Amino acid sequence: MKSKNIIEEFQEYRDRTGNRKELYRAVAKRYDLRSALYPGSHIDIAPSLVIPKVIYVDNFKGAISFFKSMEVLKEYINENKEYEEPCDIVFKGQDYTRELNIEPVDLIISQYAGFVGQATKKYLRTGGILLCNDSHGDATLSRFDNDFEFVGVIGKNNRITDSNLVEYFVMPKNKDVELAEVKEKMKGPKYKLTAENYLFRKK
Ligand SMILES: C[S@@+](CC[C@H](N)C(=O)[O-])C[C@H]1O[C@@H](n2cnc3c(N)ncnc32)[C@H](O)[C@@H]1O
Repeated sequence: MKSKNIIEEFQEYRDRTGNRKELYRAVAKRYDLRSALYPGSHIDIAPSLVIPKVIYVDNFKGAISFFKSMEVLKEYINENKEYEEPCDIVFKGQDYTRELNIEPVDLIISQYAGFVGQATKKYLRTGGILLCNDSHGDATLSRFDNDFEFVGVIGKNNRITDSNLVEYFVMPKNKDVELAEVKEKMKGPKYKLTAENYLFRKK
């Protein structure tokens, strides 16, 4: 009974917040990524369906409780995954700004959870990919961070585009982007052209 509940919880969350498996699959395939770190994951375990090793980090008590059913989650993922090897899932129920004690990963996922890229980029291997949206301004901070190269955008159709990138992160009337304001308000500015998600490569 318990096992049914935890999987249903994920499925209901996925139905409510949108199924992002295709998004994660598109990114993992394009850059041949095998490991990921997902700070502020809540209970979005969709990455494990397409990426063999994923480390989830969240300090919300609901997420901590959800990941206590790890064996049930692994069973579900192993039955539904799209890669050969058994899944490797780690959960850390802590603040992601604190030390994580992990090896470098191929991908960092940042979705509606603050300045994830800034706080955790040290765990991304050189050449690794940061996938983020600009809901809280994380994409903006990454765009103007010399540790990252802006390499692509992803629309609602989960297609990755790497052309005309200069048209993104441009303010109306070509005003300057105020990074201090983004940090204070924790919100991405209203640019002339936006995308659902942005991709950055760690230099
Ligand atoms: C709006 S939810 C987004 C969840 C998930 N990324 C998604 O897109 O479905 C934000 C999550 O980030 C977590 N979070 C925010 N700041 C955090 C921090 N500093 N350390 C750990 N978790 C954090 C919250 O607990 C919450 O579960």
